[in-house]
Amino acid sequence: MEKYLINPNQKISKIKKEIYGNFSEHLGRCIYEGMYVGENSKIPNVNGMRIDVITALKEMGLPVLRWPGGCFADEYHWMDGIGPKEKRKKMINTHWGGVIEDNSFGTHEFFELCRQIGCEPYICGNVGSGTVQEMSDWVQYITFSGISPMSELRKENGREEPWNIKYFGIGNENWGCGGNMNVEFYADQFNRYNVYVRNYYPDKPIYRIAGGPNRNDYHWTEVLMQKCRHSMNGLSLHCYTGTGNYALEFNEEQYYDTMRDCMLMEEYVTRHSEIMNRYDPQKRIGLIVDEWGTWHKVEAGTNPGFLYQQSSMRDAIVAGLTLNIFNKHSDRVHMANIAQTINVLQSVALTDGEDMLLTPTYFVFKLFKDHQENTLLGSYITSDKIGQDKNVPNLTESASVNANGDIVSTIVNTSASDASEVLCQIADINGIKEIKAEILTGSIHDHNTFEKKDCVKTVDFTDFTKTSDGFKAKIPPCSVVKFIIKQ
Ligand code: AHR
Repeated sequence: MEKYLINPNQKISKIKKEIYGNFSEHLGRCIYEGMYVGENSKIPNVNGMRIDVITALKEMGLPVLRWPGGCFADEYHWMDGIGPKEKRKKMINTHWGGVIEDNSFGTHEFFELCRQIGCEPYICGNVGSGTVQEMSDWVQYITFSGISPMSELRKENGREEPWNIKYFGIGNENWGCGGNMNVEFYADQFNRYNVYVRNYYPDKPIYRIAGGPNRNDYHWTEVLMQKCRHSMNGLSLHCYTGTGNYALEFNEEQYYDTMRDCMLMEEYVTRHSEIMNRYDPQKRIGLIVDEWGTWHKVEAGTNPGFLYQQSSMRDAIVAGLTLNIFNKHSDRVHMANIAQTINVLQSVALTDGEDMLLTPTYFVFKLFKDHQENTLLGSYITSDKIGQDKNVPNLTESASVNANGDIVSTIVNTSASDASEVLCQIADINGIKEIKAEILTGSIHDHNTFEKKDCVKTVDFTDFTKTSDGFKAKIPPCSVVKFIIKQ
């Protein structure tokens, strides 16, 4: 029997809702078809945005969406994506499949998409191939209400009132597709571009996110903290779980390899945070994990530049482990964006023309939604290490409390075959009124298809008993379980 201790007296940090964000790029069928089909499409839409996808993202509680890339961001010239659609410039999407980008989805469409979802927009600007003037003009076009060349242009394009941008990224992967820069050079670029990302309204300051390191590049973090900490609000971190096998074709050993690789996120977040703590002990600057998720071999028969992959319970377990890690580090991790929302990498939904299915990862996000804006509590679970190399935790968890005093706990059982008995004890609790639980479980290969869309979905979980100070539960293999404990 494993012991699971929750300490409501230890209130650690706020779990910002933005930890549950998504990333969407002009890549494959993410934006086009996945979210935007155009006003004249037969696919039911509102102002070109597909209704089924928007409804699903709203129900999932999507709080923030990053756009337009990714590598695409450092080749994107925003002025090509405004004005009458028939006059918009067409370009080649050199990074992603060499397809024609007709720019029919641009700034106005992105803000409309976010409005319909009810999420915050997070825009990533072009440092790699753009100019300071171009970035500065974009911010003025979007946010300025007074008289200026860019605000007039916005009005000519049919938008009188400015929008609000809360989050703005100054470049993406500038160590790679964003310009192949070394960190010293990028830090100077960040400081220069950042000056011209104007805050037109002091009460609506823009949260500036510097292009950060890949995985364990600690030197990148060190230099940016030295040179840019006074001007940035967030530092991005990218970390994918690459598997080298197909989304649905893997054996148990490869399953555990994926889990081990996924758990490296814990080490990376901890070590980047340690560097940030030395320069920013108040934890003002957020670590923004704005690209994460599984990266499998592209599905056979699909365009290799489209990064399309199916999604199974293996991906769902990766999502559960990663979100538990982010919750536990919510003092420093202020936002995260899984890559990418629809039809690309670890998506939450897949589309096929008019049809749409929700992936197991979608259901994990929906389960974890109850942590959003809660306070992280101190908690600990005993757990063996499993897998062929005994380096994967059998169980992970995180616990939080909401404004009503309800405790929310999410437990992941990574084992491909074995259930785990867990005894949960909550310190100093004065009686429990009710416990409700939901589960997502299946075998490691289980997934949804267009023929069978509800093979994997959440259901009520009842295999537990309430005790005077918690519960006793049998957590099935390959599962993510959420408990809501009402006091
Ligand atoms: O998400 C796909 C790509 O992965 C992004 O464009 C890039 O930032 C990262 O390398």
